[in-house]
Amino acid sequence: MEYAGLNFADIYRRRGTYHIDKRTPYIDGYEGLGVVIDMGAQVSKHKLGEKVFFVDAPFANAELVAVPEDHAITVPDGLDDQLVASVGLQGLTADFLAHDLGRNHPNDNAFIHGISGGVGQILSQILTADGVNVYGVTSTADKKKIALNQGAKDVFLRKEPWLQAYVGEFDTVYDGVGVTLDQSIELLKHRGNLVFFGMAGGNPPKVDLVTLLSQSKSILTGDLWDYLTDYWERVARSKRLFKYFEAGKIKISQPTIFPLKDGQLAHKFLETGNSAGKILLQT
Ligand SMILES: NC(=O)c1ccc[n+]([C@@H]2O[C@H](COP(=O)([O-])OP(=O)(O)OC[C@H]3O[C@@H](n4cnc5c(N)ncnc54)[C@H](OP(=O)(O)O)[C@@H]3O)[C@@H](O)[C@H]2O)c1
Repeated sequence: MEYAGLNFADIYRRRGTYHIDKRTPYIDGYEGLGVVIDMGAQVSKHKLGEKVFFVDAPFANAELVAVPEDHAITVPDGLDDQLVASVGLQGLTADFLAHDLGRNHPNDNAFIHGISGGVGQILSQILTADGVNVYGVTSTADKKKIALNQGAKDVFLRKEPWLQAYVGEFDTVYDGVGVTLDQSIELLKHRGNLVFFGMAGGNPPKVDLVTLLSQSKSILTGDLWDYLTDYWERVARSKRLFKYFEAGKIKISQPTIFPLKDGQLAHKFLETGNSAGKILLQT
């Protein structure tokens, strides 16, 4: 392994609030990038010495990881290893949120909570490149600057009173923060879609379906892993994602890198909500 990616799901799993593979002692981590140094006799899709990344193989916070061959994706030529390690899971998530769930049309108005987080930065730039008008909210002036530089039309600060002016304005709201779900529903136009994909800020409130019905608003949810069903699905989805990087349409913040042995500090940093972009554990 060269890098393991840290994700909110690792925190949910450490807390015991998300599906986990049982193992004693428990090893966290499902994402990483490294070199194939050994393989089973039946493996045909990869070769020794090849650089691969994966987003759905357990026990990845380690120096050596056994990755099922269908879960390993070849690192594309011409893209930097650190970039690929930084955008594997968050990028494939942003891609499926935009293209499988949100399915926006050019000139739609979309809103993203936590727009300068790892998923948020990539999602915002995919949507902008697809011709969608992107707006969002974030916590600090520095994060706001990142999102505006990445093409968002406008970005609000959480502590400001921004909501009332935008009630009913959006075709789609992307919410991976969770506690913001009621705001997200208010922001939607009638017939709009809320894409709920995580709870970085805490569990969402209960939703009143009758209110949704009376305004023709819908909620879509999804877990990336349900969209990574076989090898060719993983390859096709990563090609769709990397096209945006190869065309220079996505730029991301530098990742924050911790040595693998400092995993505890990395978890604490992610939990503060102060990170902008990816956190990597380096072996
Ligand atoms: N459904 C799936 O398949 C899937 C896959 C991957 C990730 N996810 C979810 O996507 C969400 C974003 O993940 P990520 O990897 O992009 O994480 P991230 O880089 O840490 O971004 C999360 C953002 O949420 C915002 N936030 C608001 N309140 C927060 C709080 N109390 N604590 C921490 N953050 C808070 C922060 O942005 P501001 O400071 O700008 O508000 C933060 O940058 C998470 O909920 C994660 O579980 C879902």
